[in-house]
Amino acid sequence: MPEKRRIAVLASGNGSNFQALLDACVSGVINAEIVLLVSNKRHAYAITRARLAHVKVLVMEPEKFKSRTVHCAKIARAMNDLNVDLVCLAGYLLKVEPCLTRSFPNRILNIHPALLPKYGGKGMYGRHVHEAVLLAKEAESGCSVHLVNEIYDEGPVLAQARVPVSPEDTADTLAGKIHPVEYKLYVEVVRDVCAGKIDLDAKGATK
Ligand code: GRF
Repeated sequence: MPEKRRIAVLASGNGSNFQALLDACVSGVINAEIVLLVSNKRHAYAITRARLAHVKVLVMEPEKFKSRTVHCAKIARAMNDLNVDLVCLAGYLLKVEPCLTRSFPNRILNIHPALLPKYGGKGMYGRHVHEAVLLAKEAESGCSVHLVNEIYDEGPVLAQARVPVSPEDTADTLAGKIHPVEYKLYVEVVRDVCAGKIDLDAKGATK
C-alpha cells in the first residue's frame, strides 16, 4: 500500500464537501488523511465537522492580518509544517493568493457547482451560480473539479458531472440536485489523485 497522502481542506461554510472527503478518507476509499482544516470564517460549520473528527483546525480571518500576503504565508507555513501534499478547496470563498499556488504548484483542487468554463469567475459562488444557470435557461448544469491557479475557476478541469435542469427548478432545488453529485465526483477525483491515477503535473495549471 503506497503511503497515505496528507490533505488540507479550506472551507468557508457548511463543509458538506469536506465531510464527504473526510468520510472517504476515514473509510479508506481515499488513501489519505485530512490533517488540517483551514477556515476564513470563525463560525463556519466546517469547523464543527473538523473538531468532531479530531482534525486540526486553523481559523484564519484575513481581516486579522496585516495583508493578504501575510495571511496566505501563514496558511502555507501551517500546511508545510504538517507535510501537506494536497490541498482541497471545499466552498472556500476567498481568492487563493499566489503564495499558496506557488507553495503547492498543481496540488490545489477545487469543486465548483457548474459546468466550467461556464458560470465561473468572480462573484460566481453559491446561489449566484444557480441563478445564472436558470436565467440562461440551460438544459443542464452540474459540477466541475479543477486545478486551481491564480484566476478564479480557471485552472484545468479534471472531471465533470452533469444534472438535468427542469423548468420548475429554483436556485435551491438545483443546488440540492448538484450537491450529492459533487460529493461523489470530488471523492472520485481525490481518490484517483491519491492513488496516482490522475497525474496533476501532467494536467498542470502551473508548468
Ligand atoms: C459547493 O457547492 C461547492 O461546489 C462550492 O461551494 C459549495 C460548498 O458547499 N465551491 P459545502 O460547504 O461543501 O456544503
